[in-house]
Amino acid sequence: MSLLEGLVITFRFGVLMIMSLIAGLINLLSFIFPPGKKSVSGEIVLITGAGSGLGRGMALSFARLGATIVAWDINKEANEATVQMIREEGGKASGFVCDCSKRDDIYRAAQEVKSSVGHVTILINNAGIVSGRKFLDCPDDLIQKTMDINTNAHFWTTKAFLPHMVEQNHGHLVSIASAAGFSGTAGLADYCSSKFGAVGFAESIRHEMRIQKLSGVHVTCVCPTYINTGMFTGAKVKEIENMEPDFVVQQIVDAVLRNQFWVVLPWSASALSAIQGLLPLPIADAAQDFINQHQSMDNWVGRQGEKKDK
Ligand SMILES: NC(=O)c1ccc[n+]([C@@H]2O[C@H](COP(=O)([O-])OP(=O)(O)OC[C@H]3O[C@@H](n4cnc5c(N)ncnc54)[C@H](O)[C@@H]3O)[C@@H](O)[C@H]2O)c1
Repeated sequence: MSLLEGLVITFRFGVLMIMSLIAGLINLLSFIFPPGKKSVSGEIVLITGAGSGLGRGMALSFARLGATIVAWDINKEANEATVQMIREEGGKASGFVCDCSKRDDIYRAAQEVKSSVGHVTILINNAGIVSGRKFLDCPDDLIQKTMDINTNAHFWTTKAFLPHMVEQNHGHLVSIASAAGFSGTAGLADYCSSKFGAVGFAESIRHEMRIQKLSGVHVTCVCPTYINTGMFTGAKVKEIENMEPDFVVQQIVDAVLRNQFWVVLPWSASALSAIQGLLPLPIADAAQDFINQHQSMDNWVGRQGEKKDK
């Protein structure tokens, strides 16, 4: 390397350091003085997997803030129950049965929503499943289905609803991913892959909006650890308590109102990703072993006690 090349690299590294410091300072300031909350009154909020857990919680919360809710779920009765709860509180909601593992069904339901309710302005990709099996024990069709619901559905719903948001420079995409979307975990290979996909998609779309200067279209990417909704009953990491759904819902809604991109819950889970990114592999492994991350699915039974074969 010539002296000139060395100087150029040192200069670039210096600029990068200064920019990182400025970005860190801006982040710290927005933590101390969080941005104000926007209104979602009158917005049309579509939530996939609205029949249960976080989906139902978010539907009720956004309805209470004056939004019109479009509830999607494969489970008709559960979805209708969510719609009914919202209507009983005086809110506006309609339900559509949609199998988010099927692209054609997503496009069909999207068309129905556009003609009967209107253009969706906040899209929350929340529907998800977990197989709970070690990779070699997991049937191919279940791996495929996990990818179809947890990742691919995000492509098709976004294709259906983003164009109008772009046209109006107004909208919000919310990806309910997972802490499994930045930290590969034994016993969750298919689930982690699907959530890494969801995180990558959310990040990429955020950049597409930013580069096109579409400052009115926001993206939020939600990465929680285990929550007591039933989906992960029996799963547990050491030292990090499983979270209550109400707490997670409230954090998500708050982040959407503040147009915040990352929602990592609990905050200590961010440390995991920092450790993985910055420290040598054996230290990162030791940190994960300390919290028994890779045994966390050993006692998983899921919602219906659907314990996998070991
Ligand atoms: N529970 C957790 O510990 C946890 C942690 C991190 C991330 N997440 C993610 O949060 C999201 C919500 O999870 P939850 O805990 O509320 O789960 P949940 O099982 O309570 O809700 C999931 C909903 O998705 C619906 N659904 C399943 N397959 C569908 C399909 N093919 N088409 C349409 N709807 C379908 C279900 O009927 C259900 O109503 C999921 O994406 C999940 O991966 C959950």
